[in-house]
Amino acid sequence: MGTDSEKPKRALIIYYTFSTQTAKLVHHLRKGFKEAGIEVETLKLIPEKKLSFPLHSVSRTISMMLRTFFRQRVQIKPVDKEQIRKADIIVLAGPTWSYNPSGPVLDFLDKYSYLLKGKKVLPVISCRKYWRTHYRYLKRKITSCGGKCLSPIVFTHLIKEPWSTIGTFMTIAGINPRHHSFMRKHYPRYGHNQTQLAEMEKRARDIARSLASPFP
Ligand SMILES: Cc1cc2nc3c(=O)[nH]c(=O)nc-3n(C[C@H](O)[C@H](O)[C@H](O)COP(=O)(O)O)c2cc1C
Repeated sequence: MGTDSEKPKRALIIYYTFSTQTAKLVHHLRKGFKEAGIEVETLKLIPEKKLSFPLHSVSRTISMMLRTFFRQRVQIKPVDKEQIRKADIIVLAGPTWSYNPSGPVLDFLDKYSYLLKGKKVLPVISCRKYWRTHYRYLKRKITSCGGKCLSPIVFTHLIKEPWSTIGTFMTIAGINPRHHSFMRKHYPRYGHNQTQLAEMEKRARDIARSLASPFP
């Protein structure tokens, strides 16, 4: 009969993505885990009221940034609690919104953080640049319910300022930066690049190996 340490570990990736960047990271994280022999499931947080990207409006973008600064929750559809209970490690992934975790992740933590008790939780953060307040909030919440918050994996947008801020704002508002000559030169892309996605996959394999080790 196999011992506990011989059983394949089960990871659950809980995530929210607004503009698909976290979804791309999750795809590669999942691939890396699977290649390293970890059983992996995903749980996508779905808002009760559909949030469409892009917002197609400058005023709606400003309004969203203000509301998220005050940590406005976005109500999510109920999640499968059993999926969380049976996981050995939880990945909690999502974007930074105005320095904070995104509204759906905040709502998830309000409603379900008690299920993280005794679990290792790995935060994965996709952001333009500012992730520390976001991480501190997650750590406080996870620790206060008896979970073990691991060091986060953070991917930022690798574009110089002020172009990164301007380009991100335009993209969220639904204005393509590449259609404006003053931006085209400085803003090649929104979000993460292929090297970062490959790095995510490698990090996932490394984490999987450390989980499989009898002395993690
Ligand atoms: C409303 C809103 C607020 C944001 N605020 C921040 C922020 O404070 N700091 C930051 O680094 N990025 C911020 N961003 C950028 C996102 O974190 C970034 O684009 C991320 O890669 C998006 O991930 P997603 O595609 O999975 O939603 C914000 C994005 C939105 C929509």
